Formats: sequence, C-alpha cells, structure tokens
Amino acid sequence: MKGTEKKALDIAWVREQFPSLKLPVNGHPAAFLDGPAGTQVPKHVMDAIRDYLLNANANTYGAFLTSRRTNEMILSARAAMADFFHCDPDEVVFGQNMTTITFALARAIGRELKPGDEIVVTTLDHDANVAPWRALEDEGVVIRQVDICEADCTLDLDDLKRKITGKTKLVAVGYASNLVGTINPVAEIAKLAHAAGALMFIDAVHYAPHGPIDVQALDCDFLVCSPYKFFGPHMGTLYGKREHLQRLKPYKVRPAPDTSPECWETGTQVQELIAGIAAAVDYLAELGRRLFTRLIEGLPAIPGMRIFGITDTKRFEERCSTLSFRLGESNPTELAAFLGERGIFTWDGNFFALNLTERLGVEKHGGVLRVGLVHYNTAEEVERLLSGLREFIGR
Ligand SMILES: Cc1ncc(COP(=O)(O)O)c(C=O)c1O
Repeated sequence: MKGTEKKALDIAWVREQFPSLKLPVNGHPAAFLDGPAGTQVPKHVMDAIRDYLLNANANTYGAFLTSRRTNEMILSARAAMADFFHCDPDEVVFGQNMTTITFALARAIGRELKPGDEIVVTTLDHDANVAPWRALEDEGVVIRQVDICEADCTLDLDDLKRKITGKTKLVAVGYASNLVGTINPVAEIAKLAHAAGALMFIDAVHYAPHGPIDVQALDCDFLVCSPYKFFGPHMGTLYGKREHLQRLKPYKVRPAPDTSPECWETGTQVQELIAGIAAAVDYLAELGRRLFTRLIEGLPAIPGMRIFGITDTKRFEERCSTLSFRLGESNPTELAAFLGERGIFTWDGNFFALNLTERLGVEKHGGVLRVGLVHYNTAEEVERLLSGLREFIGR
C-alpha cells in the first residue's frame, strides 16, 4: 500500500520531466521557488519546439510541406488550448504575452465605447489588467478602481458592487492575485457584470497553474493566461466568446485574414512556441493519465473485479479516464452507497447508455459502478477508492 501511494504521486517522475531543475548554484542544488514569474518546462515541451524547428519551420498558408505542417500544428494547438479553457478552438487566440494581448483587445473594445462609459478595474490586480483599460481614459472612458479589504487582501465586494453601475461596459478582474495569492469569486463577479450589461474580462495568468479553468462555467466574455506560467513557453493566450471576437474590430494590416481568431494574431506568430503550448497542455493531460494508470493498475488486485473497456496502459490514447466496473455479484447501487458513506462519490446504473449495459449483460443486475477522474482529483483520492473497495469486499 505504502509503495503504491508513492508511485501514484511520483514526484521523482515529475521532476525528471524538468531537466533544468538539476541546475547547480555555488555547489547548492537550485530550488525553483520563482514559479509565479514563470515555471520551468518539461522535456516534452522542449522536444515539441525542437521538432517544429526541424520538421515544420515555415510561415502559414504556403503550398508546400512545412507550411502545411505549420497550419496543422496551429490547429492542433488551438484545439489543445480549447480543451484547457473548455471552449471551441476558434475562440482561442495566441499572442506574445498577456500584456500585449490585453492592450490589443482593450484598443479594439475602445472602438465601441463613448466618453462617459465606465470600466471597473481592481487594486488587487497586476498592472497588465489595469494599464490597458486606463489607456482608454484618453478617449473619455471613466475607470473605476475597486478597493481591497486590507486585513486579508481580498477584494472589497461591497465596493465592487457600488462601482458597477448602469454605465459600466466592462469589468476587468484577476482570477488570483500574483502577490498575495487571493482567489477572487470571478463567477459571482461575472454575474454582477452581466446583470449591469457589462462584459467580464478575467486575467487568469496567475491562477492557471493552480486550478482548472472552465470559461463556460465562469460565463466570462474574455479570459487571458500565459503558458509560461503553466510549464509552457513564453507566450500569451486569450479566450474570447465567439460573438465578441467576430464583432469587435482588431487593429490589423489589410492583407491579413479578416476572420477570427486569425485576425487577432498580428503579424507572424512565434510558431515554434505555439508548438510548445500544445505540448504543455499534453503534459498536464499526462499527469491526469498517470493518476488513471494508478487506478487501473490497482483495481485488478481487488477480488471479483470486472472492468469494462480498455485496460492496457499502452492503449490509453484510445480511452479517457472514465471507468466502469462490477465487483462480483454485488449490486452497484449498494456499492455506491457504501463508498458514498465514506465520502467517495461515484455513480451506479446505466447513465442512459442502455444499449451498452444490455449488450454487456449487466442491465438486469443494476448496471455498473462508474468512476471519473478529472484534473482536480488526487492520488490520495484514488487510494481511498481502492481501500474503500477492499473494505466492501471484506465485509
Ligand atoms: C496576474 C498577472 N497578470 C498579468 C501578467 C502579465 O503577463 P505577461 O507576462 O504574459 O504579459 C502577470 C505576469 O506576471 C501576472 O502575474
């Protein structure tokens, strides 16, 4: 049990992925506690950048191999970031960094504003989520800055509510503070912004390496983050709701595409780094796969275990981390209730995949027990599930 716990977390494997962590300084091993300003990158990201430069290095939309490869690479990187944000690929924009993207977006949004319109910013934010909006003061836009509660460095939500008015056109808030670490209730703030008819812009640069982002659940209009803070290369990325990216007019050269998201990507992009972004998202997915591997390796040791679906770890590309099983003749509902009492939430039944449970011959016996792992799950939770199942068998 002890050994398997270690394997599930496998910090040694994680550190091995980051060759730069071995840097010596005056005879001391370097301790990289500088993550908030940028994280180290795994080999996988370095390889992707090198591979792009070796095999695909060209500008886009040419009638030859490397250019076609570049187009394909950008499409797959957009799809990877869309997974990361939980949006569609055409809602993902690549850029030099968050600051540059935000200045460009603010200028474009400014074209729709008139003197007297208001934008709300906060005292808790990085200046990259303040200065681009303040630049619109030149056009007569009024900036209202929300204060903090000094005692604990949280946003003063009463002040925020006061500062959002009928004239507010956009609320710009950070997801987490890069100085004191406070996580802001951005979904709640998005509701307040929308109720006032304003757009919601979230700076997720600091938050991105700390938790999953779901732009649909947040219901924000824009969200920015920078891959170099979550194990990727030095770039920035923007999520923009499709309707806004299509409606707004970015500043651009005339021959460049007029369609979004390309119209937002000024000039030639740092394509080799875009290749690295896709690899960084893959790396995060790989962390999830390792958790799943622990689960799938731990389950067969439980007497009476019957797993449905692909269990060969070499074939994990062909499946996701949703897993169904039965335990001997036991009833899945009874098993789910037993685990539920121990704080382990799983589903039992057929989940409307009735043809499948009938075909597998389990429908008449209560279906299956289903376990789903996502990126916020931990190795410790997997171990709790395994020991819960052992306890159930040993009753
Ligand atoms: C919270 C936050 N927002 C914005 C930025 C600026 O990001 P970029 O360097 O991608 O322009 C940073 C950089 O440290 C940050 O921590």
